Amino acid sequence: MKIAVVGSINMDMVVTADRIPGKGETLSGHDIRYVPGGKGANQAVAMARLGAEVEMFGCVGKDGNGKALLENLRAQHVGVQYIRELEDAATGVAMITVAENDNCIVVVPAANGRVDKAYVDSVKEGLLQADMIVLQHEIPLETVEYTALLAAQSGIRVVLNPAPAYPVSPEVIEAVSFLTPNEHEAKILFGEADREELLRRYPEKLVITLGSEGVTTALKDGTILTVPCRPSKVVDTTGAGDTLNGAFTVRIAEGAGIGEALRFANTAAGLSVEKFGAQGGMPTRDEVEKELS
Ligand code: RIB
Repeated sequence: MKIAVVGSINMDMVVTADRIPGKGETLSGHDIRYVPGGKGANQAVAMARLGAEVEMFGCVGKDGNGKALLENLRAQHVGVQYIRELEDAATGVAMITVAENDNCIVVVPAANGRVDKAYVDSVKEGLLQADMIVLQHEIPLETVEYTALLAAQSGIRVVLNPAPAYPVSPEVIEAVSFLTPNEHEAKILFGEADREELLRRYPEKLVITLGSEGVTTALKDGTILTVPCRPSKVVDTTGAGDTLNGAFTVRIAEGAGIGEALRFANTAAGLSVEKFGAQGGMPTRDEVEKELS
């Protein structure tokens, strides 16, 4: 089972502080660390740690950050042969403040903004070998839409994690197999709607993550399935959504039903927040299975 990710690769500059600063405020932080991130790369690493064969598609700059991030992906057993190193762009960066059991993030896309339709066309042969494709919103939206439609035409199932939030065309919603917004992203995509009514409109396709409340979807018979969060000792929530998306995709690719896939994914996400960094706490297969049993 091969899974491809077309998405972002960032260097995360993470500062810890007692609280998230207000507008115009200067706060004294505790420390700063540089760790691998980017929603695309995070989801690729989450899946590889769970034993999946993963190929990453995207762009980095030909700079120190790009080199370190490629090395990290290789070390995590994620395929990097299609990642392009650009001479004329810097590697994407995210500035993250971790405080109050939460975070706030500013992303500078840089090379991620160059993951365009021409790039997808140039790697199409490799991409279409995948059994499933995972997409997020940290590369240009038109590339996300193009890739989703291309995959659907080729009979490849797509998981679209629409983060950060931008509206998605009805055609793309139709084309993808799974759409996994959080509550805020769901509002941007669908407006103010009753959550259960919305879930029933897209049974076993729309999966809404609810932060500390877990994750929810509608089954084909209209039953609402909500999987509550695993209680965790939170160190850093960065990447929890990425772990959930990656773990969910792995189990779906393996043929699990949606309920089982969500329970597995929720446990993986719960484990991931107990260590620092987006990828630092992503669990192995054994760790998730031990926890589930
Ligand atoms: O989802 C977490 C990720 O969002 C971080 O790793 C950061 O790079 C931002 O893209």
